[in-house]
Amino acid sequence: MFSGRLASFPSSAFQRLNRVLGDITPESFAYANAPVALTIGEPQDPTPAFIADIVNDNRALFAKYPPVAGTASFRAAVARWLARRFSVPLSAFDADTQILPLNGSREGLFHALFPLCQNDRNGGKPVVLIPNPYYVTYPAAAVAAGAEPYYVPSRAETGFLPDFNSVPEAILKRTVAAFFCSPSNPEGGCATREQWRRVFELADLYDFTVLADECYCEIYDDEPPLGSLQVRYETTGGFERLLSFHSLSKRSNAPGLRSGFVFGPKNLIGPMTLFRNTCAPQVPIPVMEASAAAWSDEAHVEAMRAVYRERFAIARRLLGNQKGFRVPKGSFYIWLDVGDGEAFAKTLWRKAGVRVLPGAFMGLEQIPGNPASNPGHAYVRIALVHDSLTIEAALERVAETLKSGT
Ligand SMILES: Cc1ncc(COP(=O)(O)O)c(C=O)c1O
Repeated sequence: MFSGRLASFPSSAFQRLNRVLGDITPESFAYANAPVALTIGEPQDPTPAFIADIVNDNRALFAKYPPVAGTASFRAAVARWLARRFSVPLSAFDADTQILPLNGSREGLFHALFPLCQNDRNGGKPVVLIPNPYYVTYPAAAVAAGAEPYYVPSRAETGFLPDFNSVPEAILKRTVAAFFCSPSNPEGGCATREQWRRVFELADLYDFTVLADECYCEIYDDEPPLGSLQVRYETTGGFERLLSFHSLSKRSNAPGLRSGFVFGPKNLIGPMTLFRNTCAPQVPIPVMEASAAAWSDEAHVEAMRAVYRERFAIARRLLGNQKGFRVPKGSFYIWLDVGDGEAFAKTLWRKAGVRVLPGAFMGLEQIPGNPASNPGHAYVRIALVHDSLTIEAALERVAETLKSGT
């Protein structure tokens, strides 16, 4: 569809799945008429009513262009949340220069690369490290910004997080940025203190920016996943070479609100603000008002976590016997080893009318021409975003299909 530089834009996993399943009709009439999609990571629960109420109360402010840097009340609410959530003193933050509102974290993850990829690095094209499997925006941003994506495998042996120790020195010398998603999508891996420290150690050594995608960090069972900024602060007392991305899409079941933010030191937030000011969407002021309230409230988030606990308990009951089954430490995905994810997704759709996402569609072959070298090859991603009854019925069908074989 694209030509030139954008010809290497990654294709969306969902489009690929639609193509692959397009010719297959579920065998049973009942299932064909009641298909269930466990594919997309979009929370299906209602957005808390107070969010819409605050947007409505502030509707007169839709008459104003929003300031790209956000409102002081939004930045202050975010700083208080960061301090609370990541056990860093509030005095460590300068809300006015370190926090930038985003129209959801996706556009920020995309735009962040442009100011960072302006020049060649050590005589070559700038490189962006991307976990493999990946969220599709990462390689899209790298390609659009004129950088070279370098895929770093994320496998079980490294806790389903990118194995940065495997990156050759020649690549590190040209690296300007590394995406690091924790909790990771699709696998739900959560970085340990040592893993965060290692990526910062490399960032300091080779002078690159860590793009920490932490939009799932509020979806966990009992132990809040460690955050990039808390580990950075513990280690250096600052936030050098870090941009940390957050969102209300998952935290507040509000993917349609389009509200997130990026946190980082002034020398990174400043250029990103300037760049976004020319081309990116601003967050409407009524949305910022509602978002400030959402970041200030924990009750709705705790209630949401209770709902996910219930769903994972159902998954454990129905799929717990499957080899390698694990409840992730963060996120609402099950990353299930089924041997061949694409083959299983087709069988599951044909026999049971349930759609899951083949892991390979979110990753790349590490060795071109060798499908098993795609770290997502053996897996499917199952999103637990529906209500418990829907999930239970769908996972029963998954379990039956696993039992009967492909
Ligand atoms: C890993 C990851 N990062 C970022 C996003 C973007 O979310 P939003 O733009 O809604 O904040 C998503 C959305 O599903 C995601 O899975």
